[in-house]
Amino acid sequence: MAVVIKTAEEIEKMRELGRLAAEALDYIGQFVKPGITTNELDRLIYTYHTEVQGGSPAPLNYGNPPYPKSCCTSVNHVICHGIPDDKPLKNGDILNIDITIKKDGFHGDSSRMFAVGKISPQAQRLIDITHQAMMAGIAAVKPGATLGDIGYACQQVAENAGYSVVQEFCGHGIGRGFHEEPQVLHYGRKGQGLVLQPGMIFTIEPMINQGKRHLRILADGWTVVTKDRSLSAQWEHEVLVTETGREILTVSPKTGKP
Ligand code: MF3
Ligand code: CO
Ligand code: CO
Repeated sequence: MAVVIKTAEEIEKMRELGRLAAEALDYIGQFVKPGITTNELDRLIYTYHTEVQGGSPAPLNYGNPPYPKSCCTSVNHVICHGIPDDKPLKNGDILNIDITIKKDGFHGDSSRMFAVGKISPQAQRLIDITHQAMMAGIAAVKPGATLGDIGYACQQVAENAGYSVVQEFCGHGIGRGFHEEPQVLHYGRKGQGLVLQPGMIFTIEPMINQGKRHLRILADGWTVVTKDRSLSAQWEHEVLVTETGREILTVSPKTGKP
């Protein structure tokens, strides 16, 4: 399967889907507080996607085993694909909410970190550095650059801060497919890998661990945790390669910021 170069019409739809994804994350933020369960957040996301946005949650029944919920909620040492459950969030937790809306045959995928109540300075630093790693990866995107340039940029930020980059999960092309080619690694070497061209759309979604990079997958077949139980953080944006550089498709309409 080759990398899809999106047409002008497809790019317009992907801008709309990216905005919907960002709006859903803007919406859910107000509910993240000590005491709420991730199942309650999941329900709110389901209802927002279906009743307000006129779409559907792409994670629901995705993959094998079928993913059982409408979004991923990854708390503390959960790296990604945490399954919403009935455990209340508690003061000091850090949480990634990863949502993917599907509408009119297209996908919008983005995730952000949320602080539950007051979090430790160490947890805040991990969140901030992970955002910086993602933004460094995004800044490397332009026609003629390579996937390796993106991975290198993410890895430099994370490792210079004393953190590690998860290697088993990566960003991905997105469009009519939830996960399209190419795979976008968050580590790598400058100048290596696929050369970027205008019209490509993919996610950059680094998972950065406070401790070692190694992971374990729980018996539910989805939940990915750090092997050493250290904290992990992740942010995700969709990026379009433009003629001159890049455009982030999942910027928050509320703050205007990535
Ligand atoms: N949204 C995730 C990503 O960024 C994928 C989640 S797959 C699911 O690629 F089935 F767990 F939802
Ligand atoms: Co995602
Ligand atoms: Co993604």
